[in-house]
Order: sequence, then structure tokens, then C-alpha cells
Amino acid sequence: MIKVWTDQQEAGYLDRAPQRGSTFTYMPRAAPERAVSVTMPVRLQSWDSSFGLAPIFEMNLPEGALRERLRLAFAKATGVFDDYDLLTIVGRSQIGRVRYTGEEDALDQEVPFQSVDEILSSRRGGDLFRYLLERFATASGISGVQPKVLVRDQKAFSADSAPKSRLSESFRGATHIVKFWDPNEFPQLAANEYFCLQAAERCGLAVPGYHLAEDGMALVVDRFDLKSDGTWRGFEDFCVLNARRTDEKYRGSYETAIVKRFQQFANSPEVYDDLQRLFTLIVLNCALRNGDAHLKNFAILYDEVLGPARLAPVYDLVTTAVYIRADRMALTLNGSTEWPTAKELRRLGEQRTGASPSKVRHILEQVADAVASAAPALETHRRDHPEFAAVGQAMLAAWETGRSSLTQ
Ligand SMILES: Nc1ncnc2c1ncn2[C@@H]1O[C@H](COP(=O)(O)OP(=O)(O)OP(=O)(O)O)[C@@H](O)[C@H]1O
Ligand SMILES: [Mg+2]
Repeated sequence: MIKVWTDQQEAGYLDRAPQRGSTFTYMPRAAPERAVSVTMPVRLQSWDSSFGLAPIFEMNLPEGALRERLRLAFAKATGVFDDYDLLTIVGRSQIGRVRYTGEEDALDQEVPFQSVDEILSSRRGGDLFRYLLERFATASGISGVQPKVLVRDQKAFSADSAPKSRLSESFRGATHIVKFWDPNEFPQLAANEYFCLQAAERCGLAVPGYHLAEDGMALVVDRFDLKSDGTWRGFEDFCVLNARRTDEKYRGSYETAIVKRFQQFANSPEVYDDLQRLFTLIVLNCALRNGDAHLKNFAILYDEVLGPARLAPVYDLVTTAVYIRADRMALTLNGSTEWPTAKELRRLGEQRTGASPSKVRHILEQVADAVASAAPALETHRRDHPEFAAVGQAMLAAWETGRSSLTQ
């Protein structure tokens, strides 16, 4: 059995159930604010899944290289290796406010220390990812296909924020995400994401602190679910909000599975501002030709599970068109995954976000300007880094196509 914690307090028990399913039961007398998800209120009756884990428990399970590494390390001991096993390994260190331990265990979120500066200045040399994987894999309760780990470096956290908001020295949880890339599949992915995030900032969207390693091998991102007092915000991606499994992350439409679903769960006085931000992000994904804007790349963030939820800051923005020719959108718009016309985007904005036609037009113009104004820095980096030249060139071409589609 696995003990489930929310906000560092015991919430309930999760166990396997017959035919590869699972069952979760809240502690007797659990308070409503112990809920594990906005989709799973505290109740007497158990929450059962006929196959695998409920989406909130599956949400941060590693995919890709990190999952494979953990499988190789732990499958020998257990024989089989499924999501439940994986959760017992990475459960103590997760994105968001839910944690998992053994039935009798206390909560211990200790993650080893790692200087982010060392990663960024490429001082360690050698195979940095292997080294970090060795040390941090079991502390990396984080989803996604690209290779990545969670590390702890409270000194570097929010270097630009006031000293008062720095974390205390006694904090032991993970503070940063370090993202790498596979040179055979996605060359220069870190730089690609770095410049896409710059475009997002220029759109006025909230973006967590992010840094590109000097050698371009890693992108280090501040965790936006970590509060300066060392506690965690609630984080739920749109697979959870749509009650979908991770392997269904490419299923759904922007109209319903993203925009309408956000409205359903936002429960916040800022819902209309956030809807316009969400719309801006969808438009930006089109302008940047990011074909990977699936259900797990949008999320909500909240301080209290029963309180208002806001749109999470932007993450995982990549010009995927440089790696996948004839790339399309991850979800449908107007029934199709073809890149939309300006008219189709305007219709989404006008019909689903409550914004006036002139406001919608303004958002499209703002995104087009933001992408244009992010291009010179990319161009400079491309000139100074021959290894980025080809990818950078292809990015600029994709941005130009995407940007001009907004003005037609
Ligand atoms: N700054 C952040 N703070 C907290 N959590 C984050 C942050 N950035 C990303 N995440 C979480 O980590 C997950 C993985 O990150 P990300 O989407 O960047 O990885 P990826 O491997 O590129 O994903 P994909 O499989 O979609 O390509 C996200 O789905 C989200 O849950
Ligand atoms: Mg992602």
C-alpha cells in the first residue's frame, strides 16, 4: 500500500486492485482540503480505476529516458515494473502538492544538493546528464518524454527575486528542472525552447526563470510550484482535468479539452484575464509552430485545492516544426490538427474566451509582434554558435510562416 500526502499531511491510501487496476481511499475524517485533486473531492467511497492509476497519481510519472533508466534499475528487484512501482520510487519528490510514501513511512523529501551554476557554466564536463541521472533519477517525480531531472539548489533559486523571498537553508526539496536533449532526435532542443520562452515573455505571458547552459546542452528552469516559504502549490495538468490517461495526451480539442475545461475548474475572479492568456498561448503555439501543445503542456496552479485556480505559467514551448516536417497541432481546432488560419483562431477567441473581436485581433497582432521581436536575439545566437546554425535557421523560417499566418 502507498500512503498519499497532500500539503505535507496524510490524505489517504492507494493500493493495487484486481485486473491491473487501483483504488484510493481517503483517511477517515480527512478534511475537504486534503483532496488530492480538484477532480477528486474527499468522500467516504473509494476512488477506483479499472486500469492503472487515477490521472492525478499518474500525472508526474516519468516517460521517455528517465522512465527507462528507473525501469532498468528497479525491474530486476520486482520482476515486473508498472506505474504503481514507479510511483513508489519517485513518489517522495514530485511536481505539485501530492507526495507518496510507504504505508508506515514519514514524509522525507530530501533531494541531494546540486549547484545550478555548475550546470550552466558547463564546469563538470563529461557526460553531465548521466551523472545527474545517477544522483537524481529517484528524486525526479516529473513527467515528459525529454530527458530531465529535478535538482536542489536553493541559492540560485529566483536569483532576481528579493533576498527576503529566498528559500531557507533548511529546505531540502527540489528547486529546479534540468532539461537535456537527445542529439540524434532533437538537436539543440534546449536553445530552441530558450528562444521560444523569450517570445512568450514578449507576449506578456508568465514564464518561470529559465537559463541556457553555456554549451547549450541543458535548459534549467525554476519550479513555479515552489513557494518562497518552502511549501508547494497545487499543480494539475489538463490530462487530469479531462480525466485522461497520459497516453491520451494527444486526444481532444483546444475548444473543449483546454478552453472550456479551464473555465470549468478556474473558480477564480481572474478567469476572464486567464482565458485571454490561455488564448494568447494557443495563438503563440501556432506562431512558433509548436506541434506538441498537448494536454500535459497546459496546467492550473492553486494555493488551496478548494480555492481559486489560475492558469500555470508557460512551459515546454518548442518549435517542433524543425524536427518533424509537415508537423501539425497536438490537439484539434475546429475539428482539424492542420495549422489554423487567422480567421479560425479569431473564431476561437471570440466564441470561447469572452473577448471582444477587437481584443482578439489585438492579441493576434501582439503575438505576431512578440515573435518578430524575439527573432534578432535568436539570429545573434545563431551567428555566434555554429552548432545552432541549422536549427536556428529552420526556427526563423518556421516563425516567419507561423507569424505571417496570423496576419492573413
Ligand atoms: N517551471 C516548472 N515548474 C513546475 N513544473 C514544471 C515546470 N515546467 C514543467 N513542469 C512540469 O514538468 C513536466 C515536464 O516538463 P516539460 O513539459 O517541459 O517536459 P518535456 O519532456 O519536454 O515534455 P513532453 O513530453 O511534452 O515533450 C510538465 O508536464 C509539467 O508537469
Ligand atoms: Mg511537456
